[in-house]
Amino acid sequence: MKENKLDIYFAKSFLDKGELVAIPTETVYGLAANAFNKEAVEKIYELKKRPTNNPLIIHCHSIEQIEQFVTEIPKEAYELAKQFWPGPLTILLKKNDLIPDYVTAGSEYAAFRIPNHSLTLELLQQLDYPLVAPSANPSNRISPTKAIHVYDYFKSAIPYILDGGDCTEGIESTIVHFDEKNAKILRPGSITFQQLFYVIPSIAIDQEVQEKPIAPGLSKKHYSPITAFKVIDKIDLRSIIEYKSKFNKIAVITCKKEHVSIVEIDFYCYSENGDIDQIATNLYELLLSVDSKGYDLIISELAPEVGKGIAINNRLKRANNTNL
Ligand code: TXA
Ligand code: MG
Repeated sequence: MKENKLDIYFAKSFLDKGELVAIPTETVYGLAANAFNKEAVEKIYELKKRPTNNPLIIHCHSIEQIEQFVTEIPKEAYELAKQFWPGPLTILLKKNDLIPDYVTAGSEYAAFRIPNHSLTLELLQQLDYPLVAPSANPSNRISPTKAIHVYDYFKSAIPYILDGGDCTEGIESTIVHFDEKNAKILRPGSITFQQLFYVIPSIAIDQEVQEKPIAPGLSKKHYSPITAFKVIDKIDLRSIIEYKSKFNKIAVITCKKEHVSIVEIDFYCYSENGDIDQIATNLYELLLSVDSKGYDLIISELAPEVGKGIAINNRLKRANNTNL
């Protein structure tokens, strides 16, 4: 058997037995279980320490498979699906009775996504059920973009990690909600507002959700490093030197490489030249790595607030854990 086939065979056998398997996607690694196995789904909540009122995204291999689980797919949702699936887009659709309430935390809407990763797509095609998969991190921690990140979080508590290499997108999917007629963005993500707008000009960012989240996973605080983490609009040397008087070991992360050096401050960059896709791809990996180095304070610059920068800044602002 070819190596990939063997990996998928192992992943399938654990999932069939109701065990959890970490799966690669183009956005971040997911912690997957058979969506139709209640005990398996409960294991996800236990392991992540995730509040049970926070619903899970259902991962499928095709639009035809999703059609089996919903009452209808609005025309515009179809257009988005055709354009962006497989890919980093999650669409909320009215579910039918085949999707259990414990997957959606009781909501009549279920979140669906077809991930764009060849290993995971092949796995999904071989299963008789869809997979629920939140990001494979303990609740409120940074999402993993490498198999080793998942291992570092959970060690042997997950029986199998399907290693599909590094996640190419680096930030989570964009979530779009279709109620009676309107399309709204609930979570900014890898697919930008502009990309969605070309397909659905009436689409809006749900400001209400930004203020008062409908799901706990969308709440303001999230994705935090363990180290004190402060985001600022633009790196300004004066304020950094001021922080230096209050904290011993400081790391500063900029969006592109800056040729500055200050004694006893370590500088890192999300990308060499400020390329927004690169910043997204490297974001969580760099945060996880800098977080593990024992700094007293990490200061991060925000990205330009356009395109994918909106999703990047959404994550950075929610990672901010200090009132400095
Ligand atoms: O890119 C992604 O979306 C990754 C990969 C693994 O697919 N998954 C991911 O899952 O980010 P998670 O659980 O970390 O974030 C999913 C978000 C949560 O904020 C959750 O509250 C929301 O989606 N969500 C899921 N189902 C929902 C539903 N039925 N109604 C409203 N929000 C929902
Ligand atoms: Mg998550």
